[in-house]
Amino acid sequence: MLRSTLLYLSNQQKVFQFIRHNRLAKRMASRFVAGETVETALDAAAALNAHGIRASLDLLGESVTNEREARDTGRQYVHLLDRIAERRLDANVSLKLTAMGLDVSEDVCVEIMHDVLARARDLGSFVRLDMESSAYTDRTLAIFYERLYPTYPENVGIVLQSALFRTDADVERANQARCRVRICKGAYREPPSVAYPDKKDVDASYVRAMQALMQHGKYPGLATHDEAIIDGAKRFAKAQGIAPERFEFQMLYGVRRDLQEQLVREGYNMRVYVPFGTQWYPYLMRRLAERPANLAFMTGSIVKEAVRRKQP
Ligand code: FDA
Repeated sequence: MLRSTLLYLSNQQKVFQFIRHNRLAKRMASRFVAGETVETALDAAAALNAHGIRASLDLLGESVTNEREARDTGRQYVHLLDRIAERRLDANVSLKLTAMGLDVSEDVCVEIMHDVLARARDLGSFVRLDMESSAYTDRTLAIFYERLYPTYPENVGIVLQSALFRTDADVERANQARCRVRICKGAYREPPSVAYPDKKDVDASYVRAMQALMQHGKYPGLATHDEAIIDGAKRFAKAQGIAPERFEFQMLYGVRRDLQEQLVREGYNMRVYVPFGTQWYPYLMRRLAERPANLAFMTGSIVKEAVRRKQP
């Protein structure tokens, strides 16, 4: 119930306008968001690199409503790729096609993506297309397979979500095409016509997809904080003779830092998704929905800190 409410609120821009400058909300966001500027994100990536962790930087922002905004977002990603290279960071970028104008014009979106991917190719970098709600799955995959991947096979990859019924087939197609996939459970509220309603089925689907990608895919990203699944991945790799260099674990900024560092110590590749920018509200609400206990935990610690500061 709380999860659904938080996911519903994540789409309410009016709520964001209301809390945009609220200190408590900004403090909560800072747990999951590196900051509002490019430099704060680069600093966060540098700090992760110092711990042997790679980064994927995501400029927060979802569906834009006009071509000017979409082109501006594209230019910001080109600048971000340049700055990553200038600072010699071990980092790539993640982006959403709706932020590149998918809802405005598919052709404009593809044109902007060519600018971003051409720069990624020149710099030897990589761009991950985040997966949005199921309303976008077909269009995202069609643009990827038909209009981007053939030109930039080394520089662009997709995300698949184990919550969706279609994912087994999508994994098989990706493995046949030899493209890079990040597998995650899926962060959006989906109708029962397209997605498993029960978490145990989402988890079982994740394990199926993960194993198929580890065995037959190209350097998959296993994006999860689920310890049982992570342990299962390690056991599966050992049993199948899959070397740790052939895949990477991925987690979100601010979530399970202990586990991130432990995996690095154990010799696994670890990448952290680092979101930044002013449009942090929908992202924060999705993170709270994943673990509503975060809401109580963060409010409690902020209040405690405020009380402590007032004491002499
Ligand atoms: P699950 O939700 O079962 O959680 C397992 C355990 O992890 C929980 O018991 C909890 O302890 C911990 N945990 C999970 N989330 C937490 C949180 N927010 N705070 C604190 N603890 C938490 N989704 C999508 O639809 N499209 C996308 O492109 C991406 N991209 C992406 C990239 C990366 C690097 C990650 C890690 C995740 C995504 N996601 C995503 C989000 C993903 O779909 C999913 O919603 C979250 O990862 C939570 O699912 P888990 O696999 O962690 O499992």
